[in-house]
Amino acid sequence: MTVSKIGVLGAGTMGGGIAQVAAQAGFQVVLCDLEFSLVEKAVARMEAFLSRSVEKGRLTAELKGQALNNITKSAAVADFADVDLVIEAISEDLELKKEAFAQLDQVCKAEALLVTNTSSMSVTAIAGATKRPQQVAGMHFFNPPALMKLVEVIRGYDTTDETVKTIFEVAKKMGKTTVEVKKDFPGFIVTRVNMAQVIEAVRLVEEGVASPEDIDTAMKLGLNWPMGPFELQDFMGVDVTYFILNYLQDEFKDMRWNPPQTLKALIKSGRFGRKNKSGWFDY
Ligand SMILES: NC(=O)c1ccc[n+]([C@@H]2O[C@H](COP(=O)([O-])OP(=O)(O)OC[C@H]3O[C@@H](n4cnc5c(N)ncnc54)[C@H](O)[C@@H]3O)[C@@H](O)[C@H]2O)c1
Repeated sequence: MTVSKIGVLGAGTMGGGIAQVAAQAGFQVVLCDLEFSLVEKAVARMEAFLSRSVEKGRLTAELKGQALNNITKSAAVADFADVDLVIEAISEDLELKKEAFAQLDQVCKAEALLVTNTSSMSVTAIAGATKRPQQVAGMHFFNPPALMKLVEVIRGYDTTDETVKTIFEVAKKMGKTTVEVKKDFPGFIVTRVNMAQVIEAVRLVEEGVASPEDIDTAMKLGLNWPMGPFELQDFMGVDVTYFILNYLQDEFKDMRWNPPQTLKALIKSGRFGRKNKSGWFDY
């Protein structure tokens, strides 16, 4: 199947970024959120990003104009009637996602593919809300989508090879590198490995072995990581780490994913803002 028009559902952090990447790659994009003003804000963020790229000489003004021209703003899912692919990037809530997919299934043409950018939820469960589970998959972008090269492509229980092949092609056209997650297991690849490392890093602090600063320094200089595990959590949001660990523990029914006590304490203290506000470094 050839994809030329993409619907992006949700114009937040990820949806806005994904729409930008798709528009810059030459796809026609319909960007839709619950309210038109949210879509307008996302397009304004996109415009600012592209303008900075032009100023820095990374992009021509002409290409910036073309990318913005490829975007249609919408506050109605009905505008997805003729898209070939929908990338869903709404809030991380399984019931909301199921509702959205049931609606997309009604609105979109029969051959359209529907993918979710969920970072943790079951693709199979989301696909179950549609009558086309073979055309549903995970397409997991990373934050910020314009800069991060990876896309995890996740097979749900019914996802066909044809669907996976088309998503690989779309991601490639967007300039992304894909990895295939062959089974719909919680946390996929990146989140699962990352969370295992986060838990060990927090335990090292709890055991008094090293400070958060020294653990970050050790991982950056010892293994060439671009960010230490604590810095990364500040970037992601400590609340997100806590949410994901609880989800993995619940899904696997395995205490190894139990959020460490120190993380729970930070959450209880309400210190879970983003970017150096988590409290890790003065705990
Ligand atoms: N933020 C990240 O670092 C990151 C990274 C990878 C994946 N994700 C995943 O991407 C998805 C979106 O995350 P985000 O950080 O962009 O969230 P966000 O809160 O910034 O944006 C979500 C947007 O979805 C809209 N929305 C909610 N329900 C809707 C509906 N039914 N129809 C249309 N729009 C709706 C909201 O109004 C909001 O604008 C989540 O599944 C998240 O887990 C996030």
